[in-house]
This record gives sequence, C-alpha cells and structure tokens, in this order.
Amino acid sequence: MSIRLNYNNMMKHTIGEQGISEIEYSSHTTLAQFAHAKVEEGRGKGMQGWMDSPYNQKEVVKLINATAKRIRKTCDSFVVLGIGGSALGPIAVFTALKHLYYNELPKKVRKGPKFYVIDNVDPEKMNALFDVIDIEKTVFNVITKSGATSETMSQYLIVMDMLKAKLGDKASEHIIATTSEYKGNLIKIAKDNNIETFYIPEGVGGRFSELSPVGLLPAAVVGIDIAEMLRGARDMDRKCKTNDMWRNPALAIATLQYISIKSGKNIGVIMPYADSLKYIADWYAQLWAESLGKEVDNDGNKVNVGQTPVKALGVTDQHSQVQLFNEGPYDKVITFIEVGQFRSEMNIPNGCEEYPDVNFLCGHSLGELMNNELYATRYNLVQQHRANYTIYLEAIDEFHIGALLYLMELQTAYAGAMFDIDVYNQPGVEGGKNATYALFGRKGYESKAQEIKNAKPDDTKYII
Ligand code: PA5
Repeated sequence: MSIRLNYNNMMKHTIGEQGISEIEYSSHTTLAQFAHAKVEEGRGKGMQGWMDSPYNQKEVVKLINATAKRIRKTCDSFVVLGIGGSALGPIAVFTALKHLYYNELPKKVRKGPKFYVIDNVDPEKMNALFDVIDIEKTVFNVITKSGATSETMSQYLIVMDMLKAKLGDKASEHIIATTSEYKGNLIKIAKDNNIETFYIPEGVGGRFSELSPVGLLPAAVVGIDIAEMLRGARDMDRKCKTNDMWRNPALAIATLQYISIKSGKNIGVIMPYADSLKYIADWYAQLWAESLGKEVDNDGNKVNVGQTPVKALGVTDQHSQVQLFNEGPYDKVITFIEVGQFRSEMNIPNGCEEYPDVNFLCGHSLGELMNNELYATRYNLVQQHRANYTIYLEAIDEFHIGALLYLMELQTAYAGAMFDIDVYNQPGVEGGKNATYALFGRKGYESKAQEIKNAKPDDTKYII
C-alpha cells in the first residue's frame, strides 16, 4: 500500500528549458528545511491542530461510529448543510470511496442512507432536495466552524422550520451540528434546542478539517472506515517526518511548485484519472487557492502570491482542456493523479474484427485504456516541454485517500511557509461574508452597510 510521487517531468533533464535543474532544486534545500521546521514547530499549535487529527481522535471516532450506526439503521437520507471547507471534503471523500451511483442503489445494497450535500443557497436546488427526501426519515448535519456563515445558517433555518412544522418537539432529533465548541451561534442554538453536536477543534480551519468530525461523521454514515482513513494520514505524516526534500513527497511538491510559481507558472492544474477522484480536485482547489492566495506576507508586505488551481478530469478533459495544456502559454504545472488498481474493471469485448480501426481496442480493459491515455497524454506533454508530476495511488481506498488528503494539506502548509504567508486566514473571503451581513442589515455591520451604500454605482455606459 503506498502513494508515490514521480516528478521527473518537472525536471530539466526531461522537459528542457521549462524544467528545473537539479542544481536549482538543490539550491532550495535551506528553504525547504526552513519550511519543514516551521511547520513542525507549529504542529498542534495555533491553526495547526489539523496535524494532530490523525492521532488524537480515538474517542471521537468511537462516538462518531456509534452515531453513524444509529443513523444507518434508522434513516433513509443524510444531508450535509455546509459550504467551503465544511462541504468540499465530505463530497470528495464520499465520491472517492463509495459506489459512483450510490444513491441509486437499492437500500439493501447501500446498507445506509442516501447521501446529499447542499453547499449553495440556490433556491431551486434546495427545493429540489425536498422533492426527493422524506424529512421525517432524514438527518441533517449542519456543519459550520464559525457557526455564523450566512449560507449554512439560512439552510439550517429552512430545515428546522420544516422539521418543527412536521415533527414539533422531535425536530431536533433530525439535526446534528458540527461546529466550534466555544464560538459562534450554532453551538448556542444547538444547546438551546438539545441538538446532538460534534466539535471542530479550535486549531482546525475549514479547508484543513476533512479529517476532523466535519468529514468523519458524513463518511462514517455512508459506511466508510474512518479509522483506516486516519491510519493512512498517519502513514503519510510519518513519511513526511524527514526534512529531506528528496524523500519527503509533500516537501518535494511544495518546493517544485514554489520554484515554478516564482518562474511564472501561475496555474496549477489538478487532473485525476478516475471519476471517483473528480471531487478531490475540487477539495484540493480550495485548499491550494484559499491557503496560498494572499495579498500580504507575514510582515505585512504586499506580495499578492498564489497559484490559480484549474480542475480537470482524465480522460474527459483530454477532449477539451488538454489542447490548451499542450500548446498554450508555459504558465502551468499539471498534477496528475494516477490509480494503480480500479475498484472494478470492465473488459472491452471482441465484435469488430472486420474494422481494424476499432478492433485494436478489443481484448483490453477500460482501466487499461484509462491509464494508457494518461501515459499518452503525459508523453505528449513532455514532448511539448510541459511541467507535470504524478501522484500515484496504488488503490482508491480509505487508507490511500486519508494519506492523499494529508499529503496535500502538508504540501500546502510547507508552500505557505516558503512564501512566508499565513496559510490559515482568508481575509478575501471574510470581506465578502461581511459585505453580505451588511447588505442584510446584520447588527454590528452598520458602517460596512453605509460604505456599500456610498459606493459608486455601475456606470450605464458599460452596460449594454
Ligand atoms: O476554509 C475555510 O475556512 C472556509 O472555506 C470555510 O470552510 C467556509 O467559509 C465555511 O466556513 P464555516 O465552516 O465557518 O461555515
């Protein structure tokens, strides 16, 4: 069982001038060691509580599994209400590890409730949800670390109102809150309404929270072995204990990306070759974008750093974006995720012997076709001197997914240390949140509301 990193195609010896020479890579040893030391020093402190998640949740896992067992027995549907870091992880892990048509399977095959995540406030989607679930047989998991996010709290209010109308005093039995133990409104609401609650540790921020109750409860409810996910994360953590960037895969990725970003590769494509990993790309895009996209460094200097993540899926996007990756500007690093063993295979049967241009496919399998197309795409990119590296997963299971998530979290933390920025804040997101509060007349946001009111209106000259 393992995850491997192959970064040959980032190097000069493979892709020529667009690549990184061994001398250049080695010249970043001190920076890599500094980043490693900084992240290690912060382990478990401040907002680095996520580094403890693989180790300190034995009791939490027991509690979560007990709750999950009850829900699996009694409910038809389980709905996550959340956004950003409180939704992308549950979506990614569910898609990675469960049957790709899970909700369509008969209940006796699923052995658990149908699974939905509502991570938007589109009224049509919310209404559509109530067309397909029976709220009396549903548990809603409201996830918000801050306990204040407008989108999630609006969803909560709608659901609670409906539940109260149908079930009166029993409404609270259909809600589980996952939130901060000490801050925000959701914890107060939960206490006042007797709502079962799981806590998000203070040092675990949204996009680093998948291996906390944020991700573990939804995963356990659909029958994912969460202890095994945490074991995978621990294994990756052990692999990354060394500060040698030739052996630590997260440190190697962070260093390669740091050098690439500095040389103008401002786009980071993430392209898994497996439908089940499609939403790992979404989860990663948030992690990488929201953590590294910063205006100022730790000393307050204006730096405007970051690398724009682009989500792609193999092989689907070979027939759309790969044209650009091959021939467009040299401003990208492509991360492939390759899978050794698909959970199931399908052979391509004979039947077209008289058509050699189709017959060449016969006798092979879809998995073989998928991976050969990955090799072919990668080969072509190398011919075009395009920087890319591959994260290889032997299999898609709990262990490897836990390890992959942890690898990506660590690489982000190291990269942030290299850029000397705060990986864990998101002033750019808070700005939008605060403006929304002001627009809705929330108390305490009066001056923001005035500021928005005074803003220059759109010039009609530019509206056609
Ligand atoms: O990574 C983050 O911190 C954000 O994406 C949050 O997860 C997102 O804004 C939702 O916040 P909350 O969980 O407080 O509702």
